[in-house]
Amino acid sequence: MADRILANRDEFLRTQTIEHDAPVPKEIPQEELMRRMPRPLRHVKYIPVKNLVYFSKNNPPAFSYETKIKIPLAKDKLVVQVRNAGLNPVDLKIMNSYTRNMNRGVGFGCEFSGVVTEVGENLHGKWKEGDEVFGVYYHPNLGHGTAQSSIEVTPSKDVVLHKPSNIGFAAASGTLFCLGAAYNILDSLESKGQLSEKANVLINGGTTSVAMFAIQLLKYHYRIPNKLVLLCSEYGATILKSHFPDLCDELIFVNYVMSAGRIHKPLQDMINNRETISYDAETGQPISTPYDQGKFSIILDFIGGYQLLGHTDVLLAKNGAYVTTVGDYRADYTKDVYNAWDNPSANARKVFGRLLWTFDYTHFHFDPNAKYVSKNDWAEKCVELLESEVVKCIVDKVYDWKNFQEALDYLRKGHSHGKVILEVERF
Ligand SMILES: NC(=O)c1ccc[n+]([C@@H]2O[C@H](COP(=O)([O-])OP(=O)(O)OC[C@H]3O[C@@H](n4cnc5c(N)ncnc54)[C@H](OP(=O)(O)O)[C@@H]3O)[C@@H](O)[C@H]2O)c1
Repeated sequence: MADRILANRDEFLRTQTIEHDAPVPKEIPQEELMRRMPRPLRHVKYIPVKNLVYFSKNNPPAFSYETKIKIPLAKDKLVVQVRNAGLNPVDLKIMNSYTRNMNRGVGFGCEFSGVVTEVGENLHGKWKEGDEVFGVYYHPNLGHGTAQSSIEVTPSKDVVLHKPSNIGFAAASGTLFCLGAAYNILDSLESKGQLSEKANVLINGGTTSVAMFAIQLLKYHYRIPNKLVLLCSEYGATILKSHFPDLCDELIFVNYVMSAGRIHKPLQDMINNRETISYDAETGQPISTPYDQGKFSIILDFIGGYQLLGHTDVLLAKNGAYVTTVGDYRADYTKDVYNAWDNPSANARKVFGRLLWTFDYTHFHFDPNAKYVSKNDWAEKCVELLESEVVKCIVDKVYDWKNFQEALDYLRKGHSHGKVILEVERF
């Protein structure tokens, strides 16, 4: 076949003067001909980028080659060749909010790891080509994402950090959004005097990624002596035990699946009866363990809704703190929309209003923009925690970015046990 093409081509070149619009004989595939024609050398003035974009939530993302990064680069920017893009539920919420077709592609992903390939003139002191980095690139309103072969990062706006050498690119790309959220929630509780060593913490959604970081921070960093009570599935409890075998005796698992619709009940029984009931995995026999920690001083809710909030009178100690990353409605990644306001039903608000004076309620919103970092230096602190192996990122699945649809479908189900990561092609 190749010989035939070459023979056709030689014949063609012998007999024709090639003009710009000269017709190409049918038997020579045009693509092949184009590939073999010498092209003039040109001065490259941009970095070509391959990225994943969508035009609305109704059309699946597709690869695009429209984006180009101009060089020389602006003085305050870096170019990072992306190795991995970490995915988060917020990416789905942003996607869900594009209900109509946009006239430009919207990128997705807000976390990345990669290698610096270009450094703006003003940044030469701190950064150099070849630096391994990770960070958060959070531009929900501009429609820029990290699922692209290269991104232009502005360190004064985007959180970008040197990647600790003890963590790989995949784990690094899934770390900062959830670790940053967990760190900032706990840091704020601590600064308000609510995270003392007497803290008794309940976590709704014990296997969410934010919770997995919160668990590590509470136990390894803040060294909270009380056991942490986690609402999770039975399988989730097994996963947590396998990742943190040293914490098996420090965690109490309460199965949310068995108490669907009334998850406060087993917790209320636990507090009132001063015992926890678990079930033997093989025999199914109940096992009673004493529980003497009383009501919770902190509830961290990573699932949302009123199932716990409506029962804070029996669950939360006076002057306790209730922090949710989700809000009034239970998270549903298939339809939740980015930046939707809480819109509670009148009844729910009544319950909420009746109890508000007894505890501190926070709907936490994480803004990972670099300009807020200096408030408590959370980004550098997270790097220290990673370097000293106080915390680690639990990765559930890594997908080749060509299989982005599988990755998004998996994330959308809301049952991942750790981060979902894309492996980005080196383009
Ligand atoms: N506001 C902010 O700034 C902010 C920041 C970070 C995250 N968030 C939000 O916080 C939430 C958690 O985020 P994430 O990335 O950590 O979540 P995630 O990793 O996607 O959470 C998935 C986990 O949730 C568990 N789960 C699902 N339904 C549950 C239920 N009813 N009760 C207990 N566990 C349940 C699943 O366990 P099983 O499969 O075993 O059931 C699965 O392990 C999301 O809604 C996210 O948007 C908000």
